[in-house]
Parts: sequence; structure tokens; C-alpha cells
Amino acid sequence: MGGQSEKWVLMVTARTPTNIAVIKYWGKRDEKLILPINDSISVTLDPNHLCTTTTVSVSPSFVEDRMWLNGKEISLQGGRFQSCLREIRARANDVEDEKKGIKIKKEDWQKLHLQIASYNNFPTAAGLASSAAGFACLVFSLAKLMNLKEDNSQLSAIARQGSGSACRSLYGGFVKWIMGKEENGSDSLAVQLADEKHWDDLVIIIAVVSARQKETSSTSGMRDTVETSALIKHRAKEVVPKRIIEMETAIKNRDFASFTRLACTDSNQFHAVCLDTYPPIFYMNDTSHRIISCVEKWNRSEETPQVAYTFDAGPNAVMIARDRKTAALLLQRLLYNFPPKSDTDLDSYVIGDKSILQDAGIKDMNDVEALVGPPETKGNVLGEKSKGDVSYFICTKPGGGPVVLSDESQALLDPLTGMPK
Ligand code: DP6
Repeated sequence: MGGQSEKWVLMVTARTPTNIAVIKYWGKRDEKLILPINDSISVTLDPNHLCTTTTVSVSPSFVEDRMWLNGKEISLQGGRFQSCLREIRARANDVEDEKKGIKIKKEDWQKLHLQIASYNNFPTAAGLASSAAGFACLVFSLAKLMNLKEDNSQLSAIARQGSGSACRSLYGGFVKWIMGKEENGSDSLAVQLADEKHWDDLVIIIAVVSARQKETSSTSGMRDTVETSALIKHRAKEVVPKRIIEMETAIKNRDFASFTRLACTDSNQFHAVCLDTYPPIFYMNDTSHRIISCVEKWNRSEETPQVAYTFDAGPNAVMIARDRKTAALLLQRLLYNFPPKSDTDLDSYVIGDKSILQDAGIKDMNDVEALVGPPETKGNVLGEKSKGDVSYFICTKPGGGPVVLSDESQALLDPLTGMPK
């Protein structure tokens, strides 16, 4: 490992996006390798608003593998972390940093220890696919540190072993996770269908819905579904294969009407399958249902759909608007139906790309209070209009895939000690 003093620390920092499935992954055929029972398709979200940043470091002075998540040390002993670390170490190559005088031989990676720090730019508790971005970023940054020759698709098969949905975060734009056939999982990986520039009219608004209790985790929820639901078999065998083909075509042709029909019905079916699980799983709540009504009423009143919605394993709504103009109209409707608590300021109630607020002509809370009911509701309020059912909204758009951050000031670890900054 070089002849020089053993004080060196070598590190890499990377940033990886989250993703939202528009054809859902739900159910495994292999729990350990994380192999799914159907293909899925997702949209990658703009990392400027939702992403994980991870710094990975190696030094002969480290005595064990350690990791900090959002500043707090977490255990790396779990099977999923161990699978990712093992798979990456097995593919590591020689690394040489001439400037620092560091030489690491391929076989050295087996005994060298790592220190890792990871940070989400959004609240982990908000239930916004933090494990997807997290495992994707861990795998991507380690692959750069250890000089892996594998492409992102091959890396996705490693990230998949951390969390299924993580494999789709190795690419930007529109991504398909192919379920694969092999027993060892080698062909269960993500491919990019189109990059984020392909359909750049789309605007995404996420409603972070206040949850009363902690939801069932995806992992145990989908296990219970596979064990008890009769509907899931029909979904995986008959419904999803057709929808995958249709969704690929809709994305290719930027056909928003088909995209909306497929995304909404697939989200609804996923939640139906949860209800068909015994005991039943409820991820959406009353607020989620009211958001669906709001969008459905509007879509039905127009000639063609304006907004698609989809919900993962929690009550948050992810709404995809056909363009900026529609997104501004959507935001007006959302703020009218789901106003914040009286003491909230607009700046913290609508975050992310605030230019959508400007387009909607909303500068402050007075403008929110002055909003009138949209024509399609004919003055009827959508159920109870209680304040604070939505914690906040995030305005964003489809975004790009993982990137290495070469500016050392963005590293989360001290370059001399490898400890969290
Ligand atoms: C509802 O990827 O979190 O978000 O593979 O057990 O880690 P594990 O589950 P996870 O499940 C995500 C489920 C979903 C749908 C989706 O992202 O496709």
C-alpha cells in the first residue's frame, strides 16, 4: 500500500436522486437477493430538491467500517449493507493517486476499512424514498472510490440488494427495473428508458401529508401481501406486463393522457392490493383520498387529463403536471383545498422550485386566503377543509442521475481524519 506513512485518507463524494414509481414494485420472489415479482417504471426526481449526498473514504488507519447518516452513527451490520459492501469489494480494482502518493492494490480492498457519511437534503421521516437514494449513492460512490469498471446498470443490481427501489436511482429521467429470470439475480437490473430532457415539460408537486402513525415498512408490507393476497398474483401476471409496455410507449411518445391513466390506475391498484392483504395495510389516509378527488374532478372537467397522481407506501401524494401552466393551476387548487396552519409562512409551506408559486400569482399568505374554489367543484368544498392536513408542498421536476462531486468542500468527511465534519 505504498511505502509512505500510513496516514493518508482517500475519499469520493457523490450525489444521487430519489425516484417515484409510476408502475409499482410490490412483492419479492427472493427476499435475500431482493428479486421482484414484476417489472417497474419510475421517474427520477430532480436532485436539487431531493437527493442523498454520500462521502466514502478509505485509510489504512481505519480499524472498522463505520457510517454516519444525517450526522448520527448507524450500524453497518445489517444484511443489506453487508451484501452491498461484499459485492462492491469483490469487483474492486487497483487505485493509484499519484498526487497523494497512494497506491491501493485490488486485493487490499478486502482488508481496508471504510468510513462513510451520508446526508439527505429532505426529511428522512417524510417518507420520500430515502432508502432508494441512500443505497444508490452508497453503491455509486464506493464504485468510484474502488475504481469499478461496471456500468450503472450493473451497479444497479448491487444497489438493488440494499433496497429494491434503489436500483432505479442509478439513472436520471425515466427508468425501468427489469425483474429478470435468473435465480442469482444477475439480470434483475435497471435500464434508462429516456433521460430527463426527453420530456422536460413535466412539473412535479409533492404533498407531504401529515401522518398520524408510523406506516408498515415496505419490506414487511410486501411480504405480507405476497403471503396473503390473491389479487397480487393477478396483478403481477396479467396486469403489470401489459402496463409496462403501454407505459414505455406513453413515455416514448410523451403521451400525457396515457401516462396519467396508467400511473393513476397503477397507484390505485397497488393500494387495492394492500387492502387485499390480511391483515389489511392502509397507506393512504383521508387527506390522500381528498387529493385524489381534487385531481380526478379537475381531470374529468377538462378535455384531457392535466395531472397524474401516485402514492407510495405512505400518505404523501406525488402529482405530475403536464406543464408549468398546469402546475401553477394545480398549486392554486391545492393551496385552496389544503391551506396551512395559521402560523405557517408561505416560504416554508411551498418549497423547492418556488417559481411555480410566482406563475400561480401567489406572493404571500394573503394571496392564499384570497383564492377561490376552482370551477369544477361548483363552490363545493372537498370534504372538511381543515388546516394543516398537508405539512408542506415540494415543487420539483424530473431530474438527472448520480454524479461525482469533485469539489472537496462538498465532502461530508474531514479529508485528513475521515471523520464527519
Ligand atoms: C411502494 O424498495 O422500499 O415504493 O426492496 O424491501 O427495500 P425493499 O422495498 P422498497 O419498496 C418500494 C415500494 C414502493 C413502490 C416502488 O418504489 O416501486
